[in-house]
Amino acid sequence: MFLLDEQTENALIGGGEIVIEQIRGGAMMDSNSTRRQFIRTTTIISASLLLGGCRGGAGTNSQTRASNESSTKADENQMGGEVTATEDLMREHGVLRRALLVYTGAAVKLRANPSAIVPDALQKTAKLFRAFGEEYHEKKLEEAFIFPAVKKAGGEAATYPDILIAQHNRGREITDYIINVTQGAKFGARNAEPLAKALEAFVLMYRNHAAREDTIIFPAWKQTMTDTQLDEMGDKFEDIEKEQFGQDGFEDAVKQVSSIESSLGLSDIAQFTAPPPPKISET
Ligand SMILES: [Fe+2]
Ligand SMILES: [Fe+2]
Repeated sequence: MFLLDEQTENALIGGGEIVIEQIRGGAMMDSNSTRRQFIRTTTIISASLLLGGCRGGAGTNSQTRASNESSTKADENQMGGEVTATEDLMREHGVLRRALLVYTGAAVKLRANPSAIVPDALQKTAKLFRAFGEEYHEKKLEEAFIFPAVKKAGGEAATYPDILIAQHNRGREITDYIINVTQGAKFGARNAEPLAKALEAFVLMYRNHAAREDTIIFPAWKQTMTDTQLDEMGDKFEDIEKEQFGQDGFEDAVKQVSSIESSLGLSDIAQFTAPPPPKISET
């Protein structure tokens, strides 16, 4: 909870009415205000107090200033810092890429020996992709906020959202298929090859899709906002994530994908270190 005390308001009178209005607005948002907004407001207070002091304007309250400055410093010293909206989107892609790596490993094993793959592990991967990728990341963030803003801004990036939405929809059809085909206890030889093909097509589509979003769409979206607006979007995304999953949507998704990797023998990253390159023949 943040309340502006009278002494601080008085101190700010010499610093300009605009600042006072911004801070009052922040204080009125009290019940919904986030830690980020609190920090922003305390920073404005500290800056204005210092400015007032330099101008030799209305007397500053050094106690209030010290306390507000220490709030800001405490946050600056917090380990790890804040997750920005674009970092949030990209680390979500990281979870989805790990699901794609599971599909790639599964497609290879399905061709070599279908009975070596437990359908349950693939079904869990498809359900994670549905809940975290399709229902949250795509529907609640990209389709609701990012794609409309990028289309509105125009330019080259605006030509992508329609294709990306078509790919989201195709992805959902394939996820339905994976969930259906993995109902049984074992894969029969009949289903193995069509499933391996569907997994590979899904992986190729999403590798292209996420790479374009990371390098074209998210940077273009960021360009449509000021730092303050981007900060507010970060808060909004956090709220949506909490609404959808509870406190730790991302952390929980990472745990789920880690557990799937373990069940398929894919968790030890050292196994993926590439062999040394071949020697170049001199003849
Ligand atoms: Fe997408
Ligand atoms: Fe995405």
